[in-house]
Amino acid sequence: MRIDVLTLFPAMFQGPMTESMLWKARDRKLLDLRLHDIRDFTTDKHRTADDIPYGGGGGMIMKAEPVVSAVESVLADAAPATPVILMTPQGRVFSHRIAKELAAHEHLVLVCGRYEGIDDRVRQLVITDEISIGDYVLTGGELAAMVIIDAVVRHIPGVLGAFWAADEDSHADGILEGPHYTRPPVFRGLEVPTVLQQGDHGKIQQWRREQGLRRTWENRPDLLLRAKLTEDEKYLLARFADEMVK
Ligand code: ADE
Repeated sequence: MRIDVLTLFPAMFQGPMTESMLWKARDRKLLDLRLHDIRDFTTDKHRTADDIPYGGGGGMIMKAEPVVSAVESVLADAAPATPVILMTPQGRVFSHRIAKELAAHEHLVLVCGRYEGIDDRVRQLVITDEISIGDYVLTGGELAAMVIIDAVVRHIPGVLGAFWAADEDSHADGILEGPHYTRPPVFRGLEVPTVLQQGDHGKIQQWRREQGLRRTWENRPDLLLRAKLTEDEKYLLARFADEMVK
């Protein structure tokens, strides 16, 4: 998969994109990450990328010309339906489902906004999708782009180990994951649950599902409205509800 990132701060990507899973994905040629400095597409001697807003108000606005030139340059050898995604708090809210949807593309272009915003003609001319990573405002789209790259790359076949499927993560089926343990069996008086130590795979699966449901019930009950549950699982939820009223 190829991802082009257009940013005024390419150096921000140095740490996160050169460590751990993302580095492995790049090293194995599963991810071709290309960072582009929008300032390289300015045409004046001061390399001006921002200007004051029409209509007044505070802050600076990113100029349309360099951003549109940068997008057109990376699209020169791209397939016609390549998504060009603007990172913005006004976009659709990112999720596991959107990560999977984006991972199905061969090529993505991510545009990072800065300052107070970006001249809207960029959106009108070259943007095909707008994504927010949550209902808060960051100082720029760079961290949002890194979050999206990380979550998308995990879905590329071969990035995670063979026994570690992205489809078993929290959120994959609308239910959170339960707790995990490793050795030692007892730590500061807290014991690893017996079922995990006994090794009956069927019982372990069932226990994990129950724990995941309990966590979802406690922390994210909103997710349960959309989750696909078996009759047994619905019964469990009714038991959690019972525990609450007792
Ligand atoms: N830029 C500023 N805030 C953002 C957010 N919440 N998501 C994506 N891009 C942003």
